[in-house]
Amino acid sequence: MRRQKYTPLFAFLLIALTLLLVAPGVTAQQAGRRAAATENELASRAAIAVMQAGGNAVDGAVAAAFMAGVVSPQSSGIGGGGFALVWLAEAQRGYLLDFRETAPQGVDAAAFERRPLGDAERGKYVGVPGEVAGLFELHRAHGKRPWKDVVEPARSAAKLGFPLGKFLASSLASQEKRLKVDATLASVFFPGGKPAVAGARVQRPLLGATLERIAAEGPKALYEGPIAQDIVDTARAAGGALTLEELRSYRPIERKPIEVSWEGYRVLTMPLPSAGGMMVAQTLRLFSKQELAKLGRESGAYQHLIAEAMRGSLADRMRHLGDGDHQKVDMDALVAEGRMAQRRKTIAIDRTHALPRFGLEGQGTHHLVTMDEAGNMVSLTTTVNRSFGAKLVTKSGIVLNDELDDFTAQKDVAPFALAQSPNRPRPGARPLSSMTPTIVLRDGKAVLGLGGSGGPTIATNVTQLLLDNLVFGLSPAEAVKARRFYVPSSRATILLEDGASEALKKDLAWRGEIVATMPFKSSAVQMIAVHQGRVLAASDPRKLGGAIVK
Ligand code: GLY
Repeated sequence: MRRQKYTPLFAFLLIALTLLLVAPGVTAQQAGRRAAATENELASRAAIAVMQAGGNAVDGAVAAAFMAGVVSPQSSGIGGGGFALVWLAEAQRGYLLDFRETAPQGVDAAAFERRPLGDAERGKYVGVPGEVAGLFELHRAHGKRPWKDVVEPARSAAKLGFPLGKFLASSLASQEKRLKVDATLASVFFPGGKPAVAGARVQRPLLGATLERIAAEGPKALYEGPIAQDIVDTARAAGGALTLEELRSYRPIERKPIEVSWEGYRVLTMPLPSAGGMMVAQTLRLFSKQELAKLGRESGAYQHLIAEAMRGSLADRMRHLGDGDHQKVDMDALVAEGRMAQRRKTIAIDRTHALPRFGLEGQGTHHLVTMDEAGNMVSLTTTVNRSFGAKLVTKSGIVLNDELDDFTAQKDVAPFALAQSPNRPRPGARPLSSMTPTIVLRDGKAVLGLGGSGGPTIATNVTQLLLDNLVFGLSPAEAVKARRFYVPSSRATILLEDGASEALKKDLAWRGEIVATMPFKSSAVQMIAVHQGRVLAASDPRKLGGAIVK
């Protein structure tokens, strides 16, 4: 009896004390054999612990993804979905799994034309969650540790409690009114009616019980039976259309990464249903390393050229991209060298193309990277879309996604003179994503893994940080901290982060850019790189993550 009474508190104090004493901060640049970079240090710790217990980078990534859903529920969780890109060192091949949410058969396409939807209709945004099926398949195909062992860190954190992170605490404070409406969120995160503060012990017993079943039974626990019914009921009570059959038949899809050879590197990145990899591939094919290196990272000329490349990709996205399983999309043609050579001729140092219409999004995505001592690497992005997804929580403690909001409205393709968006809501379709898990190889070894969160800033950030490392030699710690820019949809043509110099702003203006300050502060990149045999990992300070190398 005594032992049972004190165990949860003792475990919590141990975790909190460990964090205080051994916290590596947001970046880690030491020699080590295993690394994890995530948006929450507890997720990095889960990954490292599973790898130290004999697991590989896949086990680490799966453990970290489950843990992220418990401790950073604003960004991801088992009610969402994602993409995982893996480099398998021994087999010398990439593996890519798409576990994105899908639209139900009854998707109400007309409703997406009158967004934002009110509380009574938020269930219409909910897609069939792919996270558990995806993590299970990823682990089945390439994990080493038993399934229950990779779920265990998340299960015990949910049941016994975990110290609330600063980023989540600030999300709770800033969204208090909105989040408290949900009874489960209110009881877990607003004790006594007030937002829980950083460092407070938080328990998620309902989710803990759900994870316990998932650990014991696998994905069936979520896709069939009472938890599936609970998901369906919660979404339908808010106007959604999910059915039990759609949950039961959900399957992740293995896909072929986009691959680009560039300056001695092999770059593996995300294909459809994401638009992110196309931006990475097109940007690389537009410029040589020498051309960019000569300009210098901080120059207006460099930032303008890359912004022009991004505008081209965003326009291609609006015109051509949607779920490739529902229409023909020729990605090879879109990123073809000949096409990019033609586009390069239209990019000038002193002229800026007109804007594609494109919106910014919120905090509901989490990227993580893991690497093990054998050189396997995982770059995995997981999401519930906006902060706390649809803000609908099931009785089984699951925060449901609002991923279907990633479908494009007709009014947004009007500037492109399209009769209908290739990314329109359709039964069974996966909405177009910006998530861009990417891995770079040199001589058959993974030397860089990165990805990010933050809606459409994901692709622009990954493109910039990839170049920061490959062209300008920035280490992960330097790259995640460095100021970056974004190509927005209205008014300005380029948004710069706080602190950009007046000289840079003037230089960009001379090139035809309309410069403004970035209002969006929650896009974060996670990165692991191998440099001269040393593993370096860094987590973006913008979302207060934690990277560990051990
Ligand atoms: N919901 C974020 C993304 O998929 O891009």
